[in-house]
Amino acid sequence: MTDRTIGYIVGSISSTSINRRLAKALERLAPEGTTLVEIPIADLPFYSPDHDADFPQVARDFKQAIDDVDGVIIVTPEYSRSIPGVLKNALDWSARPWGQGSFNGKPTAVIGTSQGGIATAAAQQHLKAILSHYNAPTLGQPEGYVQTTPGLFADNGEVTNDQTAEFLVGYLEAFGALVDRYAAVPVAA
Ligand SMILES: Cc1cc2nc3c(=O)[nH]c(=O)nc-3n(C[C@H](O)[C@H](O)[C@H](O)COP(=O)(O)O)c2cc1C
Repeated sequence: MTDRTIGYIVGSISSTSINRRLAKALERLAPEGTTLVEIPIADLPFYSPDHDADFPQVARDFKQAIDDVDGVIIVTPEYSRSIPGVLKNALDWSARPWGQGSFNGKPTAVIGTSQGGIATAAAQQHLKAILSHYNAPTLGQPEGYVQTTPGLFADNGEVTNDQTAEFLVGYLEAFGALVDRYAAVPVAA
């Protein structure tokens, strides 16, 4: 089996984020040989084209962190039937300077959790449209719609429901296969 490093971005900066707990759960459940590392976005300033000529170090680090991993999982809440502004801001940084999009050819998966019945499905559709524009190969199945119930995810990432844990293991396996498939594919500029 190939060793892989997968970055994850949490689309919430809430100190009590249930999506961060979901990300921790994925970290815990990662198969042998797969390491999950966080790619932080909370310290990115608002993107402006004024920065294009000279990106701040925090934005350079963010783009480098995406370059350094074999794939990216975006774990996000749904805000107003779309993605939170902090995540959109990070994605805007990733897309610039023009011609240097960090997600070009980068295998990417999206997943999210909310208390609501559609479990971030609307946000994920918007996110997949953005990633398609970025030319990121995205995981189509399984779809990562995780409805939260109180106590489903502990702070340390423990999953208290066996079916949910099984689903997450299968999700990680499917994404690992996508990452491996694209590892050998050269990225067009
Ligand atoms: C501004 C705002 C908008 C929200 N919009 C939605 C929404 O469209 N759909 C949904 O399922 N939940 C929505 N929620 C509820 C979030 O799913 C819930 O707050 C969740 O805990 C956020 O994830 P987090 O804990 O990881 O930050 C919204 C919450 C906020 C603060």
